[in-house]
Amino acid sequence: MHWPKLSKEDITTKVFDALHDNLNYSTESILGLPGTYLDKEQFYDSPFIKEAAFLSVMMNNPNHIGCHTHSEGEMYFAGTQKIEIELLRICAEEILGAQKGDFDGYVAPGGTEANIQAQWMYRNYFVAHYNANTSEIGVVFSEDAHYSVYKGANLLNIKPITVKVNHNDRAVDLKDLESQLAKAKENGIKYLIIHLSMGTTIFGSVDEPKSFLEVVKNHFQHYFVHVDAAFGGFIYPFSVEENELSFLNPEISSVTIDAHKMLQAPYGTGIFLCRKGLIENVQTPEAAYVYGSDFTLCGSRSGANAVSIWMILMTYGSEGWKQEIQHLLNRTSYICEELNALNVKYFRNPAMNIVTIEAEYLSKDLVKKYFLVADNYQNPKWYKIVVMDHVKNNLIENFLHDFKEYRKVLN
Ligand SMILES: Cc1ncc(COP(=O)(O)O)c(C=O)c1O
Repeated sequence: MHWPKLSKEDITTKVFDALHDNLNYSTESILGLPGTYLDKEQFYDSPFIKEAAFLSVMMNNPNHIGCHTHSEGEMYFAGTQKIEIELLRICAEEILGAQKGDFDGYVAPGGTEANIQAQWMYRNYFVAHYNANTSEIGVVFSEDAHYSVYKGANLLNIKPITVKVNHNDRAVDLKDLESQLAKAKENGIKYLIIHLSMGTTIFGSVDEPKSFLEVVKNHFQHYFVHVDAAFGGFIYPFSVEENELSFLNPEISSVTIDAHKMLQAPYGTGIFLCRKGLIENVQTPEAAYVYGSDFTLCGSRSGANAVSIWMILMTYGSEGWKQEIQHLLNRTSYICEELNALNVKYFRNPAMNIVTIEAEYLSKDLVKKYFLVADNYQNPKWYKIVVMDHVKNNLIENFLHDFKEYRKVLN
């Protein structure tokens, strides 16, 4: 994995050069587009914006509608679209091990859309290639998977199949997987979308594909594997030696990886990636006025968001980002060491920055004071701490101090 770190000046120059290659609503004779720069009364041009690359792209408001890895794409904003292609390349090839050029993708509004885009693509594939009925298509996932998987199944009219996990290690219960798949087959499911998580929302647990797929293969011939790395995609590949959920694994066909979580990009920067030869299944031929056609769920989308991802990636380079991640992991390990000393039960994947504590060890006051998030607010069994950039040592020390005081009172 390697991509370079650029100086602030180089990043700024490249972004302004890209903007220069876009159409400019202020200076060119653009009559046909239903878009323009941001409102001038509200977002007026101040001298400092002219120096600020990201804000300048926002002001110019390029639309990245379409999928630019697939075709020429819209011709109006080619400069910033090239930046999007480059950031997608870094995510697909450098971070997730895709072969050179063997990817399609786009910057989606978020992880929810990227997960639904994957389901949509595979559903259409099964319909187009096997004449499948939607009632014959299932999506299988662990009970710790993000709820967007249910949204997608609901929208696409395919069958959600939830598999239990072990309470302590959050690994998929393979016996339950076996029986759920046998039942699904009996109920007429013939085609399967497998939704694996590289970092579940509440636990940061990471699914193990090999044993999961062995069970699947006992029952199904036709399946695709999607990896939801919305949370873990900018941490897990940097913290493990071998990542079985990357494109290096031929079983994996698509990945969601969100920049607006671990990468600290603005909201609206989910990333959808898939291998070549799949995204055609979600081409909307009726998008006839879109030059290059449309292959995405959302349609119009912000070019500035895409540029922000590239700028962050270039600010650190691959080595710098690894170091950032290591700082977060060290802080997470420190919390775990302290919890071990107190004999507190918690879950943590050592390659992730989430610590999820059994609810019985915490008071309501601690949960409230530190905004701990429950697995389920109706009946909380677990509460999580996510060591994001703002979770500095002093905040951790404050929490541990209050936690120890509470435990002392109990004993
Ligand atoms: C694992 C996982 N997948 C998908 C999502 C959905 O992402 P978004 O809120 O960007 O739609 C989340 C959000 O927390 C998540 O943790």
